Formats: sequence, C-alpha cells, structure tokens
Amino acid sequence: MRRFRANSRRTHGATLALFAVTALLLAAAVAHAVPLASPDAAATPAAGAGYAGHQVLRVFLDKHDLASVRSALQGTDIWTDLALTSTYVDVRADAAHAAQLRTQFRTEVLIADVEAAMTASTQPATVSDDGAAGPGRNAVDGEVAADAVSAKFGIGTNYLGYDAMRSMWDAMAAQWPGRVTVAKVGASYENRTIAAVKVTSGKDGGKEGGKKTVVVVSGLHAREWIAPAATINIMSNLASTYGTVPRVTALLDTFDFYFVPIVNVDGYEYSMTKDRLWRKNRQPTSSSCIGIDLNRNFPYKWSPPSSTATPCDATYPGSKAGEAMEITALTNWITTLPNLVAFYDLHAYSQLWMYPFGYACNAQPTDAAALAAVASTAQAAMNATGAPFAVGSICSTIYEAAGSSADWAYAAPRSHSVTRSSGA
Ligand SMILES: *[C@@H]1O[C@H](CO)[C@@H](O)[C@H](O)[C@H]1NC(C)=O
Ligand SMILES: *[C@@H]1O[C@H](CO)[C@@H](O)[C@H](O)[C@H]1NC(C)=O
Ligand SMILES: [Zn+2]
Repeated sequence: MRRFRANSRRTHGATLALFAVTALLLAAAVAHAVPLASPDAAATPAAGAGYAGHQVLRVFLDKHDLASVRSALQGTDIWTDLALTSTYVDVRADAAHAAQLRTQFRTEVLIADVEAAMTASTQPATVSDDGAAGPGRNAVDGEVAADAVSAKFGIGTNYLGYDAMRSMWDAMAAQWPGRVTVAKVGASYENRTIAAVKVTSGKDGGKEGGKKTVVVVSGLHAREWIAPAATINIMSNLASTYGTVPRVTALLDTFDFYFVPIVNVDGYEYSMTKDRLWRKNRQPTSSSCIGIDLNRNFPYKWSPPSSTATPCDATYPGSKAGEAMEITALTNWITTLPNLVAFYDLHAYSQLWMYPFGYACNAQPTDAAALAAVASTAQAAMNATGAPFAVGSICSTIYEAAGSSADWAYAAPRSHSVTRSSGA
C-alpha cells in the first residue's frame, strides 16, 4: 500500500466554490436487482439465519399520521426512510409484526420469505478467481475500456468481500501509477484498515493553491453492499477513461477525488459472514448489544434522538459524538485534506438526494440555494435514468437525524457554496 503525499498547499482565498454535501441513496431499481446477494454460505452457514418467517412489506401510509406510523413500526426494520412526503414505507418485519401491520395498514408483500431469499442469493466473488491480471489492462479506450474493467472484476455481478476489494484497488494503483494511489485513513474497532483511494490526473489544474478536492464515502452502513460496489465502479471509470473521455479528463484536471469505499469495514465483513442485515459497526456499547450507527455518530450537533434510544437499536447513535473509532478516523483524515469542495456519502435503498441539515429543520445552511441547485441538477440526471429522485434537506426529506455525515462534512471541516455536482 502506498501513501499519497499530504498536500500542504494553502487554500487561497475563501472564494473557491465549496461544498456540495449530499447523501445519495442509490436507485432502488439497482438495489432490487440484487437485494440480498449474500454471505459466504460455505464459510458461514449462519449468515442468513435468524430471519425465518420474516417478510419485507410495503406499508402504505394512506391517511395515517406519521406519529402513529412510527409507533406501529417499532420493532421492525425500516428499509426506506420514512419521509414526510412518503406514501409508503418498506419494512422488514418478523411474522408477528407482519401480521399486525397487515391488520392496521394496506400492505404489499415485497419479499415473502427473507430467509429463503438470502439462501438463494449469490455468493461474493473473490478477485483471485479471475486470474492474475490487473484491472483495465487495455484501458484508456474510453467507455468500452471502462466496461472491460468492470467486467474484469465482476463489478455489477457479484459483491466482493473487503479483502477482495482491497486487492482490486491495489491492482488499480499498480495499473495506473500516479493516477490511483491508496492510503490508510485509520483502523476500525477490529483493527481492519480503512482505506482511501485517490484518483487524480496528477496535474495541478493550473490553479493557484492546487486543485479542488472531492471526497466520496460509502459503506457507513454495513448491509448496503451496492454502495461500495458503486464507488468501485466510479473509481474504475474515472481512472480508466481519463485522457479519452473528455468529460472525465476535465473532471480529473479540475478535481482530485478521494474515495473511501468502505468506512464500516468491520460491519461490512460481519454482514457478509454472520448477519446479512447488519447495519452498525462492531464496537461494544454499555449494554450487551453491539454496534454504533456510524451515520448518527458524526461530531457535529450530535444528540441522541430520544430518551428511548438504546444500544440495541439499529440506529443507536453512540453515547457520545465520535465514539465510533471509524468516525474518529474518518473525520480526522478528512480534516487533513486540502481545498475540500464537495462531499458525497452513498447509501441504499431509496431514490433520494439529500443535503444539510439533518439535525434541525429550522437550521438553514448558508449555501442552501446552491445546495438545492446542485440537487436539482443531480435530480434531472437521475430522473433521466428512469429512477426518479426526490431531493431536499435531510430534515425536510426524511426527519430530524443528528450526527450524519453530511451535516458534519458541510459544517465542520470547512463550509461554503457549491459549483456543480458531477452527477455521481
Ligand atoms: C493492527 O493491525 C496492524 C497492521 O495492520 C498491526 O501492525 C497491529 O499490531 C494491529 N494491532 C492490534 C492491536 O492488533
Ligand atoms: C424528477 O422526478 C420527480 C418525480 O417524478 C419530479 O417530481 C421532479 O420534478 C423531477 N425533477 C427533475 C429535475 O427532472
Ligand atoms: Zn445507509
């Protein structure tokens, strides 16, 4: 693993356009195609266990008010965020809760047998299955090469374990020296390396003070496997088409991209080997329940959502801001990056493009208009793919949620306005 050099050039002036902070929830169309691609059953037969009788239901809200819906959903696992404008919410429920929900609401069964769906789904591939060659041997041939890179690594067909992912980006670094470099963000609770992958043209963009920095993170939530896979795809597309696809060339000549494909490395492995639906990290808490929700633990305006939040909840925010080791590592590292102008955090599943703030609905970012403009550009691009996105601030789109990545990244390291999103 090589390190990229810390860029010590100073930011010149506050006039550099800064900060699109966005949580992108990947298209459910994509997630649906492979919703439960699953753990390595051979190594860990228990991975899909514990879900006998569970179903995924679409619960239509009709005329029910949100408070009563929330109360009815207690004890279920909510898959689509319950937004103010939601007409339905998708939840996983055990047999008893599913029966209860059916009496209270109009429902539709999306997955009739969660355990069977897990058992039937495909297993993660390993890079070594595919021989010795690195990614994109004949790359730099434009889109075709990018597709070849993707095909080479099974991107889009299989989910990879963390070690296989690391082999993949190490191979990318070997394939494109100087364009792709790998560094260590920090260590997880179980002492796995959290890696960052920098993709750069190597040029300084002719800008005094250096190029602008874009950070893309994913895998804060363990089970959302499609998000790290999407990040890998974005990285390989940028690296393999620089110099042949004008749009990519312009992007990389203007911005340096830093990707952290999997922040929650322990949780990701746990979801692959032990519990497909694990969300949090694997750090112990004050109770016997394990894990902190990384996307509720960022140290900006952090606060427990309610007095009823317990360490056994899937959205447990920790007992204090930055308690999760992965969050401390990530925030410390991001703070060292020069000229940060944009931050993206990819999640699944839904079609939402959200920006700050989440911690309070009456808190307006200085750049609210610019953030909305970027969101609207992104929305048009996503709509064109046939997966219509809703956009808005986190709080107005979903609900008050403190301690999220977007709030922190917007407000804490540096905060400013927006240029344009890359449509990532
Ligand atoms: C954590 O991993 C690193 C190598 O990645 C190793 O040098 C170190 O000893 C490990 N620490 C613990 C506490 O296991
Ligand atoms: C995208 O689609 C949504 C949902 O159909 C619609 O409300 C919105 O106006 C569209 N926005 C753009 C920019 O195309
Ligand atoms: Zn998520």
